[in-house]
Amino acid sequence: MGMISTLRSVVRFRTYERDRTVRNLSKVANVDDLRAVAKRRLPAGCFDYIDGAAQDEVTAAANVSAFGRYYFRPRVLRDVTSVDTTTTLLGAEVSLPLMIAPTGFDRIAHSQGELAVARAAERAGIPYSLSTMGTRSIEEIAAVNNGRKWFQVYVWRDKPLLKEMLERAARSGFEGIMITVDTAVLGRRERDVRRGFSLPPQIGLGTLIDGVRHPRWTLDFLRADPIQFANVKGSTNVGDGSTPVTLADYINSQFDPSLSWNDIEWFRDHWPGMIMIKGVQTVEDAEIAAEVGLDGVILSNHGGRQLDYAPPPIDLVAPVADAVGGRTSIICDGGVRRGSDIVKALALGADACMIGRAYFYALGAAGEKGVDWVLDFLRSGVEHTMALAGTGSVKELNRDLVEVRDR
Ligand code: GLV
Repeated sequence: MGMISTLRSVVRFRTYERDRTVRNLSKVANVDDLRAVAKRRLPAGCFDYIDGAAQDEVTAAANVSAFGRYYFRPRVLRDVTSVDTTTTLLGAEVSLPLMIAPTGFDRIAHSQGELAVARAAERAGIPYSLSTMGTRSIEEIAAVNNGRKWFQVYVWRDKPLLKEMLERAARSGFEGIMITVDTAVLGRRERDVRRGFSLPPQIGLGTLIDGVRHPRWTLDFLRADPIQFANVKGSTNVGDGSTPVTLADYINSQFDPSLSWNDIEWFRDHWPGMIMIKGVQTVEDAEIAAEVGLDGVILSNHGGRQLDYAPPPIDLVAPVADAVGGRTSIICDGGVRRGSDIVKALALGADACMIGRAYFYALGAAGEKGVDWVLDFLRSGVEHTMALAGTGSVKELNRDLVEVRDR
């Protein structure tokens, strides 16, 4: 009797959560956990396309681990009752110094794809970026997101197609474009080479077996309309993704390897809004970008998916800020897995960070709820870090807060 009532008072049975998505998220504590859930849920080829990177994947791993060299110099006894994460980014307010990076093929993670991410970004009060290789169109994104939006472009060989996409983005209220400059040719992603992975994913014998092992993904995939490159759909000279292609063949045939600073001028003549370049990897190129008057530089190595042994973006933040800070905005893209990473990048001189895989894993793990979860996780991580480090506002973050340690 006594023991039963003691037991009753210490054991609290959790009510059983019927929604599998919510159940998945209830045990997730960080981005690594989201990655593990996504790995279980997605067919191996899809997961490896998202998770994989170029060659030995050295840069992809270093993007994350490089944050580990920066330690805090926390100040104590500063009133941190409230922590303010709002700041100004590219001329307007954001609720958190964070942007959604463009990623192709979001629908291989979840049928809602880019729509889920765009809705979650607006709810979180941060800018969304749509990839040219998106599986939802410019217009579909504009219909679900009234917030700040950027469109990512490559230098296509087909200039009329590019012009038409820019006109559509301008009409749909996108405030800026980011031109990807690190993809003269596609990086060699050896996980995809090994699998012969094509986009859209093919339901062949191998994937069928994989599909049976991942029934939820497969049902979701089969029930939705076919995956296509939604932005180039209808173009006559360019594949629209309705027949499977390997990304390397597609990109190497469609994108112009002669891209140079002159192409930036072409964009200026055809785009009325802000322009950033994505894929800056040296101080020298950041200086040219500032000189030619670009609105921002995105320090990025494409998540380690292009040139292996490219430097981790976080290590470029301080030298680039010393060279061009105040003249052009600086976005740190690569390896961000926690709010503390965002705090470090801002303290070193970045204006904002950008995330790709962090939300792609979330989308694969739990769809739109997963993306809401990860954005909330990053926001509370920023608040938590700042409270413990003794800074009340992201606007006040500066280099006094961090130091480099080799262990
Ligand atoms: C596309 O840009 C990719 O990185 O796969």
